[in-house]
Amino acid sequence: MLNWDEPITPKKAPAAASATPAHPAVAADRQAASARAHSSHAAAGDAYHSLTGLESIDVGAAPVDVSEKRIINARADVNQLLPMKYTWAWEKYLAACNNHWMPTEVSMQADIALWKSREGLTEDERYMIMRNLGFFATSESLVANNIVLGIYRYITNPECRQYLLRQAFEEAVHTHTFQYIVDSLGLSEGEVFNMYRAVPSITAKAAWALKYTHNLADGNFDTSTHEGALHFLRDLVAFYVVFEGMWFYTGFAQILSLGRRNKMTGIAEQYQYIMRDESIHLNFGIDVINQIKIENPDLWSPEFQAEVLQMIQTACELEVQYARDTMPRGLLGLNAEMCEEYMHFITNRRCGQLGLPELYPGATNPFPWMSEAIDLKKEKNFFETRVTEYQTGGALSWD
Ligand SMILES: [Fe+2]
Ligand SMILES: [Fe+2]
Repeated sequence: MLNWDEPITPKKAPAAASATPAHPAVAADRQAASARAHSSHAAAGDAYHSLTGLESIDVGAAPVDVSEKRIINARADVNQLLPMKYTWAWEKYLAACNNHWMPTEVSMQADIALWKSREGLTEDERYMIMRNLGFFATSESLVANNIVLGIYRYITNPECRQYLLRQAFEEAVHTHTFQYIVDSLGLSEGEVFNMYRAVPSITAKAAWALKYTHNLADGNFDTSTHEGALHFLRDLVAFYVVFEGMWFYTGFAQILSLGRRNKMTGIAEQYQYIMRDESIHLNFGIDVINQIKIENPDLWSPEFQAEVLQMIQTACELEVQYARDTMPRGLLGLNAEMCEEYMHFITNRRCGQLGLPELYPGATNPFPWMSEAIDLKKEKNFFETRVTEYQTGGALSWD
């Protein structure tokens, strides 16, 4: 198996091309392309291939060899989707497309009536809803910006990039959801969207996550070095496993718990769709991380595993603090202690998905109805009705 720190060997031109004398103009183009490619590789430090695939065209090179496809530091042209290597990425792209939804399809009439009524919601419920919205409203943008600016360029595989493009759109849909909720309920835009700078338990989570986006600002960031690849793996754990795989789940449980009691059912329905999308985001991230581990076994050292466990434990503690902050007195059917137990249960699942030991042995799921709302393994078949509606929509007749 190729290793990312092995030196690059020049691509061989196809036999037919070398046997047939090229037209002088083509030969000159090939010579110029080769010179450009050489200078760009030299500039990036020897073991590298372009991140974008747009720097130069390797005129006359053979089609992509599937064995050269890799999640990071690939030598294969990132513009050639086929032949495909990671079918799990493509399957997630297809599943995500089948799950298409828009927040404006969900009626907010019942939510608006309840929010404006005096007795419909307790003060504690209103407080929880506001902090919940405040966390999600900017978190979706933070995740989207990180995908587009921090992750996409370093994932050097076209089928994974295809999924990332879909994921980026879904994060835009999620941000749109919070705009739609704020607009529908007549909430203060500044209060909701600025909460990550004003509420300490939300600020603490955002500040923790921002430490794992340092590659955005580092113009010399390079995954072809051991340190660079480790940094990138750490960033992937922070965003896919922690942010999308742990921190969203307290918020999902809070709103779905309200929905189960027939309160804020419009928002609850939107959260169910977001949760379905996020389940695939998480599973994609886990697959990417585990594939990087397979392709770069030296990265997954005992020291690094201990560091990842520490990251996940700190993140779990921050989430428990957030749950206490959003529900200081508890709500009907839900309180901070139950959310803590739930977060321990979720944390154990994430550890298991990464091949790490459980941090909270014996933790149980206090919200079995969350598993019914979305079994984390069933990412394609939930909300069958809507999926079917969209699939039918794709087969419209034009006569
Ligand atoms: Fe999202
Ligand atoms: Fe997401």
